[in-house]
Amino acid sequence: MALTRAECLARDKADPLAPFRERFVLPENIVYLDGNSLGALPKAAAARARKAVEVEWGGDLIKSWNVHRWIDLPQRAGAKIARLVGAKAGEVIVADSTSVNLFKMLAAALRMRPERRVILSEPGNFPTDLYVAQGLIEMLGGKHELKLVPGEKVAAAIDENVAVVSLTHVNYKSGRIHDMAAVTAAAHAKGALMLWDLAHSAGALPVDLNAARADLAVGCGYKYLNGGPGAPAYLFVAERHQEAVRPPLAGWMGHAHPFTFDVDYEPAKGIARNLCGTPPIISMSALDAALDVLIEADMTLIREKSLAMGDLFLALVDQECGSHGFKNGSAARHERGSQVGLLHPEGYAIMQALIARGVIGDFRAPDMLRFGFAPLYNRYVEVWDAVAGLKAVMDSRAWDTASFKARAAVT
Ligand SMILES: Cc1ncc(COP(=O)(O)O)c(C=O)c1O
Repeated sequence: MALTRAECLARDKADPLAPFRERFVLPENIVYLDGNSLGALPKAAAARARKAVEVEWGGDLIKSWNVHRWIDLPQRAGAKIARLVGAKAGEVIVADSTSVNLFKMLAAALRMRPERRVILSEPGNFPTDLYVAQGLIEMLGGKHELKLVPGEKVAAAIDENVAVVSLTHVNYKSGRIHDMAAVTAAAHAKGALMLWDLAHSAGALPVDLNAARADLAVGCGYKYLNGGPGAPAYLFVAERHQEAVRPPLAGWMGHAHPFTFDVDYEPAKGIARNLCGTPPIISMSALDAALDVLIEADMTLIREKSLAMGDLFLALVDQECGSHGFKNGSAARHERGSQVGLLHPEGYAIMQALIARGVIGDFRAPDMLRFGFAPLYNRYVEVWDAVAGLKAVMDSRAWDTASFKARAAVT
């Protein structure tokens, strides 16, 4: 039986997460299915950024480092993220960008396995993860190697020469989830360390770093954590490794006593040594407030709704757009993250035409239209409206214009 818009509205009515929608600023008449790239704005984050600017910076100036506890904001926000990723409060800290944190963690891993030469990853990993590894290897004089094998073959390719296995938990394009516990166990069986990039998983599905015995991890603040454009990222170091990590970016904020201004570097105890320079307080404040919203929600419900939205989207594409030549580019359901992908040779222009109608997803070259579901603020009826928009774009060939085919800098 065909699915209807009324059924989608009924599902929204019954949705236990529905009240969270009100906690976000979302423009009227827009269906936003790109929270996997840039999360929507939590009202609390806007208020907190305003306070950080006007009250803390504007009113209390430098006193705010103590009075408003700016100084330990990276640890406090990190402790909130720890709850989302199955870590202890002292195992996560907010700092820098994901790319910089990858550099720090990969460098730390190579130092912890000095006799080994290989960083193992997959060609489909997010490019920055690969580029950072390449840059590090070059900087270390080329003695190391970045070995790439297809995702499903990584576990079998780990041997005694692998220092660290570096993977993104949920693939940015296919949305496929790696089995965190199984791959980590395979790495450990050969004495290698395991580094996970959680950019597309934290905040969207249950993650349990410690249950999997992961060694190191990094992740983004601006996707499902809703920290805002360019929000600071975070890193995880398992407690058992924290004293072994010698930060390659040995900055004063990671010093044991930043305000004694010693000549020589002495790493802080624990996770704090992974800080480098002064934290970006305004954006970190926004992220911190956004995290409060997220950690109120039940992650099991988030996961259930995310999968249900993906199922609904794919079923509706079949039902409404069956004749328009889309191929399903999503991972199989049991290993699908919080996004789906449709493949079409005209994907770029179709996405631009769809965005012009108020349905925002994104495009990943060469041919994928990508749609992400953020269960805290997306509604089932929006899934219906998104597919109805897609059908209208396809039926009318609205995409078939020079302006929609002209590539913008960001896709
Ligand atoms: C898996 C993954 N890692 C890292 C990044 C980028 O990290 P950043 O720009 O914060 O350095 C992205 C961005 O989309 C990503 O998808």
